[in-house]
Amino acid sequence: MNTIEKFNEHVVGSYGRFDLVLEKGEGRSATSEDGKTYIDFGSGIGTNSLGYCNDKWVEAICAQAHAIQHTSNYYYTKVQADFAAKLCEATGYDKIFFGNSGAEANECAIKVARKYSFDKYGKDAERNIIVTLANSFHGRTMATLSATGQDSFHNYFFPFVPGFVNAKANDIEDLRRVLAENEGKVCAVMFEFVQGEGGVVSLEKDFIEAIFEECGKNDILTIADEVQTGVGRTGALITSKLFGVQPDITTLAKGLAGGVPIGACLTNKKTSGVLTPGTHGSTFGGNPLACAGGLSVLDTVLSEGFLDEVCRKGYYFYQKLMAFDEVENVTGTGLMIGITLKNKTAKDICKACLDNGLLALTAKEKLRLLPPLNITYDEIDKGLAILEKVLNQ
Ligand SMILES: Cc1ncc(COP(=O)(O)O)c(C=O)c1O
Repeated sequence: MNTIEKFNEHVVGSYGRFDLVLEKGEGRSATSEDGKTYIDFGSGIGTNSLGYCNDKWVEAICAQAHAIQHTSNYYYTKVQADFAAKLCEATGYDKIFFGNSGAEANECAIKVARKYSFDKYGKDAERNIIVTLANSFHGRTMATLSATGQDSFHNYFFPFVPGFVNAKANDIEDLRRVLAENEGKVCAVMFEFVQGEGGVVSLEKDFIEAIFEECGKNDILTIADEVQTGVGRTGALITSKLFGVQPDITTLAKGLAGGVPIGACLTNKKTSGVLTPGTHGSTFGGNPLACAGGLSVLDTVLSEGFLDEVCRKGYYFYQKLMAFDEVENVTGTGLMIGITLKNKTAKDICKACLDNGLLALTAKEKLRLLPPLNITYDEIDKGLAILEKVLNQ
Protein backbone atom coordinates (compact mmCIF):
# COMPACT_ATOMS: atom_id res chain seq x y z
CA MET A 1 0.00 0.00 0.00
CA ASN A 2 1.51 3.36 -0.92
CA THR A 3 1.25 6.45 1.31
CA ILE A 4 -1.84 7.85 -0.38
CA GLU A 5 -3.70 4.53 -0.20
CA LYS A 6 -2.72 4.06 3.45
CA PHE A 7 -3.68 7.64 4.26
CA ASN A 8 -7.07 7.40 2.60
CA GLU A 9 -7.78 4.13 4.36
CA HIS A 10 -7.16 5.63 7.79
CA VAL A 11 -7.65 9.41 7.66
CA VAL A 12 -11.14 10.92 7.45
CA GLY A 13 -11.82 12.22 3.98
CA SER A 14 -12.81 15.78 4.89
CA TYR A 15 -10.36 17.40 2.47
CA GLY A 16 -10.08 17.35 -1.31
CA ARG A 17 -6.37 16.60 -1.70
CA PHE A 18 -3.95 16.62 -4.63
CA ASP A 19 -2.05 13.39 -5.26
CA LEU A 20 1.14 14.73 -3.73
CA VAL A 21 3.01 13.43 -0.69
CA LEU A 22 5.34 16.08 0.69
CA GLU A 23 8.26 14.71 2.61
CA LYS A 24 10.60 17.58 3.36
CA GLY A 25 11.22 21.20 2.67
CA GLU A 26 14.10 23.66 2.56
CA GLY A 27 13.92 27.40 2.08
CA ARG A 28 10.96 28.09 -0.19
CA SER A 29 10.87 24.64 -1.83
CA ALA A 30 9.24 21.39 -0.83
CA THR A 31 10.22 17.91 -1.97
CA SER A 32 7.84 15.04 -2.54
CA GLU A 33 8.23 11.40 -1.55
CA ASP A 34 9.21 10.59 -5.13
CA GLY A 35 11.93 13.25 -5.13
CA LYS A 36 10.29 16.06 -7.14
CA THR A 37 10.89 19.64 -5.97
CA TYR A 38 8.21 22.34 -5.84
CA ILE A 39 8.57 26.10 -5.47
CA ASP A 40 6.13 27.16 -2.80
CA PHE A 41 3.74 30.03 -3.49
CA GLY A 42 1.31 28.86 -0.79
CA SER A 43 3.22 28.48 2.52
CA GLY A 44 0.77 25.73 3.46
CA ILE A 45 -2.07 28.23 3.45
CA GLY A 46 -0.11 31.29 4.53
CA THR A 47 1.36 29.44 7.48
CA ASN A 48 5.02 28.65 6.81
CA SER A 49 5.79 32.36 6.99
CA LEU A 50 9.55 31.82 6.89
CA GLY A 51 9.45 28.93 4.43
CA TYR A 52 10.56 25.44 5.34
CA CYS A 53 12.88 24.65 8.21
CA ASN A 54 14.32 28.15 8.60
CA ASP A 55 17.60 27.73 10.54
CA LYS A 56 16.89 30.10 13.43
CA TRP A 57 13.31 28.89 13.76
CA VAL A 58 14.40 25.22 13.88
CA GLU A 59 17.06 26.11 16.44
CA ALA A 60 14.51 27.93 18.63
CA ILE A 61 12.02 25.06 18.54
CA CYS A 62 14.65 22.38 19.14
CA ALA A 63 16.13 24.29 22.06
CA GLN A 64 12.65 24.60 23.55
CA ALA A 65 11.95 20.88 23.01
CA HIS A 66 15.12 20.13 24.93
CA ALA A 67 14.02 22.44 27.76
CA ILE A 68 10.27 21.85 28.27
CA GLN A 69 7.69 20.93 25.63
CA HIS A 70 4.45 21.41 27.54
CA THR A 71 3.03 22.23 30.89
CA SER A 72 -0.55 22.74 31.93
CA ASN A 73 -1.90 26.25 32.20
CA TYR A 74 -1.89 25.82 35.98
CA TYR A 75 1.71 26.98 35.74
CA TYR A 76 3.71 29.71 34.03
CA THR A 77 6.44 29.44 31.40
CA LYS A 78 9.04 32.07 30.56
CA VAL A 79 8.77 31.48 26.83
CA GLN A 80 5.02 32.30 26.85
CA ALA A 81 5.71 35.42 28.93
CA ASP A 82 8.46 36.53 26.54
CA PHE A 83 6.36 35.87 23.44
CA ALA A 84 3.26 37.60 24.81
CA ALA A 85 5.31 40.62 25.90
CA LYS A 86 6.95 40.94 22.50
CA LEU A 87 3.69 40.52 20.59
CA CYS A 88 1.88 43.04 22.81
CA GLU A 89 4.68 45.56 22.43
CA ALA A 90 4.83 45.18 18.65
CA THR A 91 1.06 45.33 18.12
CA GLY A 92 0.02 47.81 20.81
CA TYR A 93 -2.30 45.33 22.55
CA ASP A 94 -2.60 44.85 26.30
CA LYS A 95 -2.95 41.08 26.84
CA ILE A 96 -3.20 37.86 24.81
CA PHE A 97 -5.04 34.56 25.09
CA PHE A 98 -3.23 31.75 23.28
CA GLY A 99 -4.98 28.85 21.55
CA ASN A 100 -4.01 26.55 18.72
CA SER A 101 -5.77 27.66 15.54
CA GLY A 102 -7.54 30.52 13.84
CA ALA A 103 -10.95 29.14 14.73
CA GLU A 104 -9.93 28.89 18.35
CA ALA A 105 -8.63 32.46 18.37
CA ASN A 106 -11.97 33.60 16.90
CA GLU A 107 -13.97 31.53 19.40
CA CYS A 108 -12.09 33.37 22.12
CA ALA A 109 -12.86 36.74 20.50
CA ILE A 110 -16.56 35.84 20.31
CA LYS A 111 -16.60 34.85 23.98
CA VAL A 112 -14.76 38.03 25.02
CA ALA A 113 -17.23 40.18 23.04
CA ARG A 114 -20.29 38.53 24.52
CA LYS A 115 -18.96 38.54 28.08
CA TYR A 116 -17.88 42.18 27.76
CA SER A 117 -21.51 43.14 27.08
CA PHE A 118 -22.88 40.67 29.63
CA ASP A 119 -20.66 42.12 32.36
CA LYS A 120 -21.43 45.72 31.47
CA TYR A 121 -25.09 45.63 30.44
CA GLY A 122 -26.39 42.51 32.20
CA LYS A 123 -27.95 39.28 31.00
CA ASP A 124 -31.40 40.78 30.40
CA ALA A 125 -30.04 43.27 27.89
CA GLU A 126 -29.35 40.32 25.52
CA ARG A 127 -26.62 42.40 23.94
CA ASN A 128 -24.99 39.42 22.24
CA ILE A 129 -25.28 39.79 18.47
CA ILE A 130 -22.09 39.84 16.44
CA VAL A 131 -22.28 41.44 13.02
CA THR A 132 -20.02 39.72 10.50
CA LEU A 133 -19.65 40.43 6.79
CA ALA A 134 -21.08 38.64 3.81
CA ASN A 135 -18.36 36.59 2.07
CA SER A 136 -16.30 36.33 5.27
CA PHE A 137 -14.60 33.23 6.62
CA HIS A 138 -13.93 32.77 10.31
CA GLY A 139 -13.34 29.04 10.83
CA ARG A 140 -14.85 25.55 11.01
CA THR A 141 -15.99 25.19 14.59
CA MET A 142 -19.72 25.63 15.20
CA ALA A 143 -19.52 29.25 16.38
CA THR A 144 -17.00 30.36 13.76
CA LEU A 145 -18.95 28.58 11.01
CA SER A 146 -22.03 30.44 12.21
CA ALA A 147 -20.03 33.68 12.08
CA THR A 148 -18.86 32.90 8.53
CA GLY A 149 -20.85 34.91 5.99
CA GLN A 150 -20.98 32.40 3.16
CA ASP A 151 -24.11 30.32 2.64
CA SER A 152 -22.11 27.48 1.14
CA PHE A 153 -20.74 26.71 4.61
CA HIS A 154 -24.16 26.68 6.22
CA ASN A 155 -25.14 23.14 5.44
CA TYR A 156 -25.51 19.80 7.22
CA PHE A 157 -24.66 20.90 10.74
CA PHE A 158 -27.92 22.47 11.88
CA PRO A 159 -28.67 24.13 14.16
CA PHE A 160 -26.02 26.82 13.86
CA VAL A 161 -25.08 29.07 16.78
CA PRO A 162 -27.54 31.98 17.00
CA GLY A 163 -26.52 35.62 17.37
CA PHE A 164 -24.68 36.28 14.10
CA VAL A 165 -26.04 38.58 11.41
CA ASN A 166 -24.34 39.67 8.20
CA ALA A 167 -23.83 43.05 6.61
CA LYS A 168 -22.55 43.46 3.07
CA ALA A 169 -18.80 44.11 2.85
CA ASN A 170 -17.90 47.59 1.57
CA ASP A 171 -21.50 48.77 1.85
CA ILE A 172 -21.72 51.43 4.54
CA GLU A 173 -25.48 51.83 4.19
CA ASP A 174 -26.04 48.13 4.69
CA LEU A 175 -23.79 48.13 7.76
CA ARG A 176 -25.82 51.02 9.21
CA ARG A 177 -29.08 49.25 8.35
CA VAL A 178 -28.03 46.02 10.11
CA LEU A 179 -26.83 47.93 13.18
CA ALA A 180 -30.07 49.94 13.29
CA GLU A 181 -32.24 46.84 12.92
CA ASN A 182 -30.43 45.27 15.86
CA GLU A 183 -30.06 48.41 17.91
CA GLY A 184 -29.03 47.79 21.50
CA LYS A 185 -28.41 44.10 20.83
CA VAL A 186 -25.04 44.18 19.05
CA CYS A 187 -21.89 43.52 21.08
CA ALA A 188 -19.33 43.42 18.24
CA VAL A 189 -18.58 43.78 14.54
CA MET A 190 -16.11 41.21 13.23
CA PHE A 191 -14.31 41.48 9.88
CA GLU A 192 -11.23 40.56 7.84
CA PHE A 193 -9.32 43.51 6.32
CA VAL A 194 -8.81 41.30 3.27
CA GLN A 195 -11.29 38.46 2.90
CA GLY A 196 -8.96 35.58 2.18
CA GLU A 197 -11.11 32.50 1.65
CA GLY A 198 -13.74 34.82 0.16
CA GLY A 199 -11.47 35.46 -2.83
CA VAL A 200 -8.84 38.00 -1.63
CA VAL A 201 -11.33 40.86 -1.41
CA SER A 202 -10.03 43.98 0.36
CA LEU A 203 -12.21 46.14 2.56
CA GLU A 204 -12.22 49.77 1.46
CA LYS A 205 -10.80 52.46 3.76
CA ASP A 206 -14.14 54.31 3.94
CA PHE A 207 -15.92 51.15 4.98
CA ILE A 208 -13.35 50.40 7.67
CA GLU A 209 -13.67 53.94 8.98
CA ALA A 210 -17.46 53.54 9.05
CA ILE A 211 -17.15 50.34 11.11
CA PHE A 212 -15.03 52.15 13.67
CA GLU A 213 -17.25 55.21 13.69
CA GLU A 214 -20.49 53.24 14.17
CA CYS A 215 -18.99 50.94 16.78
CA GLY A 216 -17.38 53.84 18.64
CA LYS A 217 -20.73 55.59 18.98
CA ASN A 218 -22.42 52.62 20.63
CA ASP A 219 -19.74 50.83 22.67
CA ILE A 220 -19.74 47.99 20.13
CA LEU A 221 -16.43 46.12 20.02
CA THR A 222 -14.41 45.83 16.81
CA ILE A 223 -12.87 42.42 16.13
CA ALA A 224 -10.32 42.10 13.34
CA ASP A 225 -9.84 38.54 12.17
CA GLU A 226 -6.23 38.73 11.02
CA VAL A 227 -5.75 34.98 11.02
CA GLN A 228 -4.73 35.14 7.36
CA THR A 229 -3.75 38.81 6.94
CA GLY A 230 -1.62 39.11 10.09
CA VAL A 231 2.07 38.63 10.93
CA GLY A 232 3.51 40.46 7.95
CA ARG A 233 1.39 38.92 5.21
CA THR A 234 0.06 42.28 3.99
CA GLY A 235 3.32 44.16 4.59
CA ALA A 236 2.51 45.33 8.13
CA LEU A 237 2.78 43.25 11.29
CA ILE A 238 -0.99 43.59 11.59
CA THR A 239 -3.07 45.04 8.77
CA SER A 240 -4.90 47.47 11.06
CA LYS A 241 -1.65 49.50 11.08
CA LEU A 242 -2.05 50.12 7.35
CA PHE A 243 -5.41 51.75 8.06
CA GLY A 244 -4.40 53.60 11.23
CA VAL A 245 -7.01 51.85 13.36
CA GLN A 246 -6.70 49.68 16.48
CA PRO A 247 -9.54 47.15 16.84
CA ASP A 248 -10.56 46.20 20.37
CA ILE A 249 -9.63 42.61 19.53
CA THR A 250 -7.37 41.14 16.85
CA THR A 251 -7.04 37.43 16.18
CA LEU A 252 -3.93 35.85 14.70
CA ALA A 253 -2.96 32.28 13.80
CA LYS A 254 -1.58 30.76 10.57
CA GLY A 255 1.86 32.41 10.12
CA LEU A 256 2.30 33.44 13.75
CA ALA A 257 4.52 30.52 14.78
CA GLY A 258 5.94 29.72 11.33
CA GLY A 259 4.11 26.42 10.89
CA VAL A 260 3.44 24.98 14.33
CA PRO A 261 -0.14 25.21 15.64
CA ILE A 262 -1.01 28.46 17.35
CA GLY A 263 -3.86 30.93 17.67
CA ALA A 264 -3.85 34.23 19.53
CA CYS A 265 -6.61 36.56 20.64
CA LEU A 266 -5.14 40.00 21.29
CA THR A 267 -7.12 42.22 23.63
CA ASN A 268 -6.85 45.92 24.42
CA LYS A 269 -7.23 47.66 27.79
CA LYS A 270 -11.02 47.60 27.39
CA THR A 271 -11.24 43.87 26.78
CA SER A 272 -8.17 42.34 28.46
CA GLY A 273 -9.87 41.89 31.84
CA VAL A 274 -13.03 40.23 30.50
CA LEU A 275 -11.88 36.62 30.76
CA THR A 276 -11.46 35.69 34.40
CA PRO A 277 -10.23 32.37 35.87
CA GLY A 278 -12.40 29.48 34.70
CA THR A 279 -14.18 31.36 31.88
CA HIS A 280 -11.92 30.12 29.06
CA GLY A 281 -9.04 27.75 28.51
CA SER A 282 -7.23 25.36 26.20
CA THR A 283 -4.97 22.45 27.13
CA PHE A 284 -2.35 23.22 24.49
CA GLY A 285 -2.84 26.99 24.46
CA GLY A 286 0.45 28.85 24.87
CA ASN A 287 2.43 25.70 24.14
CA PRO A 288 6.15 26.38 24.70
CA LEU A 289 7.20 25.01 21.28
CA ALA A 290 4.66 27.24 19.55
CA CYS A 291 5.74 30.26 21.59
CA ALA A 292 9.41 29.60 20.79
CA GLY A 293 8.52 29.37 17.09
CA GLY A 294 6.49 32.57 17.40
CA LEU A 295 9.35 34.45 19.03
CA SER A 296 11.62 33.42 16.20
CA VAL A 297 9.06 34.52 13.57
CA LEU A 298 8.65 37.89 15.29
CA ASP A 299 12.44 38.39 15.45
CA THR A 300 12.62 38.00 11.68
CA VAL A 301 9.43 39.81 10.69
CA LEU A 302 10.28 42.79 12.91
CA SER A 303 13.91 42.97 11.77
CA GLU A 304 14.98 46.16 10.00
CA GLY A 305 13.49 46.48 6.54
CA PHE A 306 11.77 43.07 6.46
CA LEU A 307 8.19 44.35 6.15
CA ASP A 308 9.23 46.97 3.56
CA GLU A 309 10.59 44.10 1.51
CA VAL A 310 7.28 42.23 1.80
CA CYS A 311 5.58 45.34 0.33
CA ARG A 312 8.16 45.61 -2.45
CA LYS A 313 7.86 41.92 -3.33
CA GLY A 314 4.07 42.23 -3.32
CA TYR A 315 4.32 45.04 -5.84
CA TYR A 316 6.84 43.06 -7.88
CA PHE A 317 4.35 40.17 -8.08
CA TYR A 318 1.58 42.60 -9.01
CA GLN A 319 3.50 44.18 -11.89
CA LYS A 320 4.67 40.87 -13.31
CA LEU A 321 1.25 39.23 -13.00
CA MET A 322 -0.60 42.14 -14.61
CA ALA A 323 1.63 41.73 -17.65
CA PHE A 324 0.44 38.14 -18.22
CA ASP A 325 -2.06 37.88 -21.10
CA GLU A 326 -4.38 35.53 -19.22
CA VAL A 327 -4.53 37.71 -16.08
CA GLU A 328 -7.62 39.91 -15.84
CA ASN A 329 -6.95 41.47 -12.47
CA VAL A 330 -4.84 41.17 -9.33
CA THR A 331 -6.21 41.92 -5.84
CA GLY A 332 -4.84 41.87 -2.31
CA THR A 333 -2.08 43.57 -0.38
CA GLY A 334 1.59 42.69 0.16
CA LEU A 335 2.14 38.97 -0.30
CA MET A 336 -1.57 38.13 -0.13
CA ILE A 337 -2.43 37.93 -3.79
CA GLY A 338 -5.64 37.07 -5.65
CA ILE A 339 -5.63 36.62 -9.41
CA THR A 340 -8.69 36.73 -11.65
CA LEU A 341 -8.10 34.84 -14.87
CA LYS A 342 -9.65 35.75 -18.20
CA ASN A 343 -10.57 32.36 -19.63
CA LYS A 344 -9.03 29.57 -17.57
CA THR A 345 -10.30 28.27 -14.25
CA ALA A 346 -8.16 28.74 -11.17
CA LYS A 347 -8.63 25.14 -10.11
CA ASP A 348 -7.23 23.80 -13.41
CA ILE A 349 -4.32 26.23 -13.30
CA CYS A 350 -3.52 25.30 -9.73
CA LYS A 351 -3.35 21.63 -10.73
CA ALA A 352 -1.27 22.43 -13.82
CA CYS A 353 1.13 24.47 -11.64
CA LEU A 354 1.53 21.45 -9.39
CA ASP A 355 2.32 19.24 -12.38
CA ASN A 356 5.00 21.76 -13.34
CA GLY A 357 6.64 22.15 -9.93
CA LEU A 358 4.79 25.08 -8.34
CA LEU A 359 2.53 24.99 -5.28
CA ALA A 360 -0.28 27.55 -5.58
CA LEU A 361 -3.73 28.02 -4.03
CA THR A 362 -7.23 29.02 -5.01
CA ALA A 363 -9.82 31.16 -3.24
CA LYS A 364 -13.29 30.87 -4.71
CA GLU A 365 -12.85 31.47 -8.45
CA LYS A 366 -9.44 33.13 -8.08
CA LEU A 367 -5.93 31.82 -8.07
CA ARG A 368 -4.39 32.76 -4.73
CA LEU A 369 -0.72 33.17 -3.85
CA LEU A 370 0.55 33.38 -0.27
CA PRO A 371 4.29 32.82 -0.70
CA PRO A 372 6.64 32.64 2.29
CA LEU A 373 7.42 36.17 3.46
CA ASN A 374 11.16 35.66 2.96
CA ILE A 375 10.90 34.43 -0.62
CA THR A 376 13.71 35.75 -2.84
CA TYR A 377 13.27 37.64 -6.12
CA ASP A 378 14.98 34.76 -7.89
CA GLU A 379 12.41 32.31 -6.47
CA ILE A 380 9.57 34.65 -7.40
CA ASP A 381 10.87 34.78 -10.98
CA LYS A 382 11.20 31.00 -11.17
CA GLY A 383 7.70 30.44 -9.80
CA LEU A 384 6.16 33.07 -12.05
CA ALA A 385 7.90 31.55 -15.09
CA ILE A 386 6.10 28.28 -14.30
CA LEU A 387 2.80 30.08 -13.82
CA GLU A 388 3.20 31.99 -17.09
CA LYS A 389 4.01 28.82 -18.97
CA VAL A 390 0.97 27.07 -17.52
CA LEU A 391 -1.29 30.02 -18.29
CA ASN A 392 -0.10 30.07 -21.90
CA GLN A 393 -0.58 26.35 -22.48
C1 LIG B 1 -9.61 34.76 8.14
C2 LIG B 1 -9.60 33.38 8.72
N1 LIG B 1 -10.14 33.17 9.92
C3 LIG B 1 -10.14 31.95 10.48
C4 LIG B 1 -9.61 30.88 9.84
C5 LIG B 1 -9.62 29.52 10.49
O1 LIG B 1 -8.33 29.20 10.88
P1 LIG B 1 -7.98 27.69 11.28
O2 LIG B 1 -8.10 26.86 10.06
O3 LIG B 1 -6.57 27.77 11.80
O4 LIG B 1 -8.93 27.29 12.35
C6 LIG B 1 -9.04 31.04 8.57
C7 LIG B 1 -8.49 29.90 7.83
O5 LIG B 1 -8.37 29.89 6.65
C8 LIG B 1 -9.04 32.33 7.99
O6 LIG B 1 -8.51 32.55 6.79
